[in-house]
Amino acid sequence: MTILVTGGLGYIGSHTVVELLQNNFQVIIVDDMSNSEKFILDNIEKIGGKRPVFFPFDLRRKELLSQVFDAYEIDGCIHFAAYKAVGESQEKPLDYYENNLFSLINVLQEFKARNISNFIFSSSCTVYGQADKQPIDENTLLKMPESSYGKTKQMGEEILKDYAIAYQKKVSLLRYFNPIGSHPTALLGELPIGVPNNLVPYVTQTASGIREKLSIWGNDYETPDGTAVRDYIYVVDLAKAHVKALQKLMNEKSETLIDVYNLGTGKGSSVLEVVEAFETANEVKVPYQICERRAGDITIAYANPDKAERELGWKADTSLEEALRTTWEWQKYLQTKN
Ligand code: UD1
Repeated sequence: MTILVTGGLGYIGSHTVVELLQNNFQVIIVDDMSNSEKFILDNIEKIGGKRPVFFPFDLRRKELLSQVFDAYEIDGCIHFAAYKAVGESQEKPLDYYENNLFSLINVLQEFKARNISNFIFSSSCTVYGQADKQPIDENTLLKMPESSYGKTKQMGEEILKDYAIAYQKKVSLLRYFNPIGSHPTALLGELPIGVPNNLVPYVTQTASGIREKLSIWGNDYETPDGTAVRDYIYVVDLAKAHVKALQKLMNEKSETLIDVYNLGTGKGSSVLEVVEAFETANEVKVPYQICERRAGDITIAYANPDKAERELGWKADTSLEEALRTTWEWQKYLQTKN
């Protein structure tokens, strides 16, 4: 089976490509390299034992995309390629809508024209906004996300639902909670551009001295220690869920047209708990200060991942500390490269 992985050199994409290779899928990557580097492809090959076919272009270039479909018989797609910086999406909403939606539509047009099924969409728990109750299951009401980035994820899901029904094609919408960590080989991980916005890359850079101090955005939330609570899921566990979701889509017996899964651990951790777990796991100190809340942040979000366990036989089983240990190994690896 040959799978197109868009954004396959990105953070979650690269880990998923490795899992696909290890499960004997042929992989074709299209990635415009806007948030990756060439050495990631070399490292995928080192871990996966095989070099995926790679095309460096932007999916908005329809003619190039068509040529890939002409050249290879593609059986499915995992679509990661998208801009993902929440803050930047507020400054450049048109860029986000154009890139994230047109890229998706262009791949779907090829799928429709060539009558291919099996499409997996990289979605986010951001589609739930501030949910009324926790944990969040797949039937939780979707609320308007705060950011343009979040809206592109919600719109992407709507496009896919219409597409699946109109053309009778199977799709899977995977809603990630907060992905963290790096590959156990320390050869793959997140490459934050500039100052990281997300918690774990900021913690990691602070521990290594690149940043002076972590700012904890608010300790007056209604949570046990006052800091906000999220569901941090290890990226390799998350990558494995993609293979399971793909296998389910490809299973002839599976009749559902639209699969939706929350991918999280089911356990919430506060910002302070993450800092402490990082310090314990890696025996390093993370200096921090308490600051005002960050605009747009929600108090608490964690998954009810039971549906994924029931239907995919998948469960996130890596501990927070273990995931944070891999992050630190990756940081050390990156420093040897500079
Ligand atoms: C954000 C996005 C979400 C996206 C996800 C990707 C919003 C509202 N949501 O989630 O759509 O899918 O990133 O991983 O932006 N924190 C600090 N100090 C920091 C950084 C973060 O205290 O320097 C806190 C935040 O206030 C939050 C928690 O850490 O409580 C997690 O933040 P972050 O990693 O940015 O993820 P989310 O905001 O949950």
